Amino acid sequence: MTRTVYVNGDYLPEHEAKVSVFDRGFLMADGVYEVTSVLGGKLIDFEGHAKRLERSLHELQIRKPMEDDALLEIHRELVARNEIEDGMIYLQVTRGAPGDRDFAFPPAETEPTVVLFTQSKPGLAESPQAETGIKVISIPDIRWGRRDIKTVQLLYPSMGKMMAKAAGVDDAWMVEDDHVTEGTSNNAYIVKGNTIITRQLGNEILHGITRAAVLRFAQEAQMKVEERAFTIEEAKQADEAFITSASTFVMPVVEIDGMTLGEGVPGPVASRLREIYIEESRRAAL
Ligand code: PDD
Repeated sequence: MTRTVYVNGDYLPEHEAKVSVFDRGFLMADGVYEVTSVLGGKLIDFEGHAKRLERSLHELQIRKPMEDDALLEIHRELVARNEIEDGMIYLQVTRGAPGDRDFAFPPAETEPTVVLFTQSKPGLAESPQAETGIKVISIPDIRWGRRDIKTVQLLYPSMGKMMAKAAGVDDAWMVEDDHVTEGTSNNAYIVKGNTIITRQLGNEILHGITRAAVLRFAQEAQMKVEERAFTIEEAKQADEAFITSASTFVMPVVEIDGMTLGEGVPGPVASRLREIYIEESRRAAL
């Protein structure tokens, strides 16, 4: 089946979906994105993603291209047209294509570019990796200073993923001043005793939508949460670790830099949080 893609107002077969070579997303990585997961044909945490998109656009002074209802409509139309049961919707908004290359921002009336496409992942919530857990290595965090804005500058995270692959593991945790910031495309957590520890919000990490939901569910389940920076050494000594993101939900981590955590299998806290997150998210899906 040919995928239907949304580009600037049109629903097109993927091979006809194109943007200009002068698009600032292409020339300058001048754009932001969101990834929203779909379970059972419904959108998970749409409102959170729409809110963060608005914030990212505002921080970069890119015009918000449409209201949230219109955005929701496009998400739903793509789910329907592409018959997505489980998977993701990728959305990107750039500062548009002013017709030439210039470091200065184009005139304010330049139309932002809006692209959305679907990624079908049947059985997304039943990932076999959740049964075994994943292994990570640590790498230096050399990204820019506004990681709270979800920009499409993903070269270093992409290199981090390749460093992990080369080391025979699944992902990399980035470390700055000895403290873990986050994973290449996810937020990072450790568990000590009954306490879940994850870095506090700030410019150093992306404010994960899954993170916000998971911390809320953890508190509702009477689990203790500490939002603070932790060192990579502390992580290696933790009882458990896990990551969260829209595409992995809650994913246990069983090894860091070759050190096995606990029994080397997903721990009870991560496993329980994964269950709760998936159950509650399905219930609230739009
Ligand atoms: N990545 N941190 C980074 C650097 C991320 O790229 C992501 C998401 C997260 C988790 O955010 P959320 O829970 O809102 O998905 C944290 C998406 C999934 C991606 O780039 O594909």
